[in-house]
Amino acid sequence: MKFLVIGGGGREHAIVWKLSQSRHTDKIFCCPGNAGISELAECISVNDNNFDALLDFVRYEGIDLTIVGPEAPLSKGIVDVFEKNGRKIVGPNMKAAQLEGSKLFAKDLMKRCGIPTAEYKAFTSYLHAEDYVRMKGAPIVIKADGLAAGKGVIVAETVEEAIAGLRLIMKGRAFGDAGNKVLVEECIRGEEASFMAFTDGKTILPMVSAQDHKRIFDGDKGPNTGGMGAYSPAPVLTPELEAIVMDKVMRPAIKGLQSDGIKYKGILYAGLMIKENKPSVLEFNCRLGDPETQPVLARLKTDMVDIALAIADEKLSNINLEWRPEPSVCVVMASKGYPGAYEKGQVIEGLNDVKKMDNIFVFHSGTSLSRDNKVVTSGGRALGVTALGRDIRDAKNKAYNAVEKIHFKGMHYRKDIADRAINRFKMHDTPL
Ligand code: AMP
Ligand code: GLY
Repeated sequence: MKFLVIGGGGREHAIVWKLSQSRHTDKIFCCPGNAGISELAECISVNDNNFDALLDFVRYEGIDLTIVGPEAPLSKGIVDVFEKNGRKIVGPNMKAAQLEGSKLFAKDLMKRCGIPTAEYKAFTSYLHAEDYVRMKGAPIVIKADGLAAGKGVIVAETVEEAIAGLRLIMKGRAFGDAGNKVLVEECIRGEEASFMAFTDGKTILPMVSAQDHKRIFDGDKGPNTGGMGAYSPAPVLTPELEAIVMDKVMRPAIKGLQSDGIKYKGILYAGLMIKENKPSVLEFNCRLGDPETQPVLARLKTDMVDIALAIADEKLSNINLEWRPEPSVCVVMASKGYPGAYEKGQVIEGLNDVKKMDNIFVFHSGTSLSRDNKVVTSGGRALGVTALGRDIRDAKNKAYNAVEKIHFKGMHYRKDIADRAINRFKMHDTPL
């Protein structure tokens, strides 16, 4: 069978890598892909906003199934266009993708369905929003309603910071139309975890849990990033809590959408805050998380093609997910300047040494091939290095051993990925 993967980051490299292991796979295309992906798939440069051009490509090549990585094409309706034209595709349609595309849509659904989430109020008027912030006091969270490339959330420690955030979004229009509506939310403290599931709109199959590291510096300091590393499982999500998340979050969300006439197919990702053993939903995403997908798919034993086809054909109840028991740790290596303006074009050395190592997977995020065929950096997050280990500490050590073999000028990475999980086990003395 032939597959097309939309996207070009670490998430898509991990998807392509899993597809490439399937007995069903003859050929994979990726749009736009990256240098790492190009070792497993043919990278194509069709404009991924031009769904008609993608559809033409799929018809011309006789592609059997398309898998969409990022949220933007989902929110713009790529699934609707493909399905209308009888093409199999994995991802929610435009209406369903509002779950990520509009925070207000997601919050209203949560409220209606009794899904635990922070208290909130939505505003279109700056003055009303400011009054409300002053009344509530800090800490408080300000969110642009629409897609803002992960940057539209301000966790304000003071009222001044919150008002500066409102100004930035509503008056400065920092995120354009995404800030036409703003949510002001109660701030919840706790431990974050990512809970992702495959769903065909009827059956929901949870993946193993993961934890991301959003801040740029060790000890969760500095500005937010797309994610500097992740590990799986997230020990904060005990099996009992996972069952609660399925009952109180995932099933009600899919059912609630269904009762509004929306069938949700693809990946459902709940960003959770766990406080005193209770989950609360910070956000829903309509796609796999990045970097979480890298350590999560590294543990997946089930054939990815079987899963993807079962989602598209609405036969997910036939699938039994199997996972490797070993935990995994992913360390992201970033370019100089990231998460601000970053350097590009640095030659990455040492990748071949790492290829020889067992249970180490280097997924490329922002790389390309130079004219003389060298792998060079082209994005803020350049690589994710994932390792499987006997336990989480072993996985961490293996990941960092591999990271030390890789070099590019200006590179930086966090040194404390997975320490939270390791410390938790020290505290409770429970082996993983
Ligand atoms: P989101 O894009 O909604 O996940 O928000 C990005 C990040 O902001 C989350 O990963 C949290 O770290 C933080 N955040 C979002 N909502 C809240 C909240 N209500 N309370 C505290 N932190 C939050
Ligand atoms: N790593 C967080 C996300 O993918 O949204």
